[in-house]
Amino acid sequence: MNCVAFVTDVETRVSLEALVSNYWSSGIVLEGGSKAALLYTPSKDIKYVIVDVSDAKNIKTTCDLILAKFSGAQGVLFIGQANDVALYRDLIRAGAADYVVKPINSEEIYTSLITSSKHQTPTQSSASVSNKKQAKLITVIGARGGAGTTSLVVNAGWILANTHKQNVVLIDMDVHFGTISLALDAKPSIGFKDALQDPSRVDIQFIEGALVKVTPTLSILAAEESMRDYVVFNDNSTKLLIETLKENKDYIIIDTPRSSLVRCPQLMMDADYVVLVSELTVPSLRDTVTILNQIKRIAAHKNIIVVANKARPGITSGQLSIKDFESQIDTKIAIVLPNAPEVIEKALNDGKAAAILAPKSKVIGEINSFCDIIHNKSKELDTEQQSKSIKGFLGRFK
Ligand SMILES: Nc1ncnc2c1ncn2[C@@H]1O[C@H](COP(=O)(O)OP(=O)(O)OP(=O)(O)O)[C@@H](O)[C@H]1O
Ligand SMILES: [Mg+2]
Repeated sequence: MNCVAFVTDVETRVSLEALVSNYWSSGIVLEGGSKAALLYTPSKDIKYVIVDVSDAKNIKTTCDLILAKFSGAQGVLFIGQANDVALYRDLIRAGAADYVVKPINSEEIYTSLITSSKHQTPTQSSASVSNKKQAKLITVIGARGGAGTTSLVVNAGWILANTHKQNVVLIDMDVHFGTISLALDAKPSIGFKDALQDPSRVDIQFIEGALVKVTPTLSILAAEESMRDYVVFNDNSTKLLIETLKENKDYIIIDTPRSSLVRCPQLMMDADYVVLVSELTVPSLRDTVTILNQIKRIAAHKNIIVVANKARPGITSGQLSIKDFESQIDTKIAIVLPNAPEVIEKALNDGKAAAILAPKSKVIGEINSFCDIIHNKSKELDTEQQSKSIKGFLGRFK
C-alpha cells in the first residue's frame, strides 16, 4: 500500500478517497483520525501518510508521535481545524510535509506531499537539507507586451550559463506565444505542457526528459501549443515543476506573462528575484506602478530589480528621464539597457543570443552587469543561508 489516510469526518473522507484513487495505485482511507493512526501498524511500503489530527487534545505531541511511528514514509501530512501559524511552523520543523486547515483542497494536499517528499523527507535532518544545491529562481515580467522580457531572459540566461559557467534553465510560461525556443533556434519542449497540466507525471526523470539542451549548461522549457489546445495550469503544478527542477541547477529563469500575477502568484512569491522590465514611456510607467504594487503586495520580501529597456540617449520625445521615472515608481532602476535594434532585433531574427553575436555591444555589457548583480547577490544569499544553518545547528547545544 503506498498511501494511508486517517480521517474524522465525511467531507474530508470523500475528498481524500477521490485523491487516493486518482493518484495512488493502492491506498486506503480509514476512519479514526489521530487515534487510529497511533494504533495502526505501518508496513514498509507506505510512502505517504495523511492524518486528520482535529481529534487530538495536544496536537503537537500527537503529531510528534505519528511522525516517529511513520518515520519510514516519504511524506506525512497533517490536517486540522486550528489555524495556528506557530503550530504550522513547529510541525514543518519536526518533519511534517504540511499542515492543512479544513476544509481541504485535495490537489493542494497531493502537491505538498509530493513536493516535500522529493526534497525534504521527514527523516532528513535540517543540516542535510541545507547542503543540497538548490537553484535560485528569477521571475522576469514585462510592464507591457514587447518591453523586452524575452530578450533579457535569453541573454542573461546565456551569460550566466556560458560566462559564469552556471547550470541554467529558462522557462517560457507563455505556452502559446512564447518565443524563447524561437530566439535560440531550439525545438519546443515535448512534455512541458503535460508537466503543467498533470502534476502526477512530474518527477525528475520526466522533467529532465522534457528539457531541451541549447548548450551543455543551458536548457529550456518552452512550448508552442496550438490555440485550439487550451493548457490548464495553476500555482500547484508550476510550483511542483519548479521545485523538482531546482535540485542540482544554479538558476531557473522564468519568462512570465503578466497574467501570471493573477494565475500563478506563487511564481513571484517563491522567486529569489523578481525582475520587472519596462520602457521609459508614459504607458509603461502606469503599468510599472500597477505591477510593482501587485508584486510588493504578494511578494514584499523579495529582491525586486527594475530594468529600463530600449533607452535612447539624451532628451527624446516620448521618453521620460530616468530620474522622473524613478520618482514616480518610488523605486531605483537597477539597470538601463540602451535601445539597440541592430543587436537585439537582429539576434532574435537570427535565432541566436545577442550575447554570442555581439558580446562587446553596450546592451550586452549592461546585461552582463545585470548578471553580475544577480550572481553576486546569490553568493551573499548562500552565505547568509549557510551562516543561519550553522547558527541553528550550534544553537541546539546552548
Ligand atoms: N534593448 C532593445 N533595443 C532594441 N530593441 C529591443 C530591445 N529589447 C527588445 N527589443 C525588441 O523589442 C521587441 C520585443 O522584444 P521581446 O520579444 O524581448 O519582448 P517581450 O517583452 O518578451 O514581448 P512579449 O510581450 O511579446 O512577450 C523585439 O522586436 C525586440 O527585438
Ligand atoms: Mg516575450
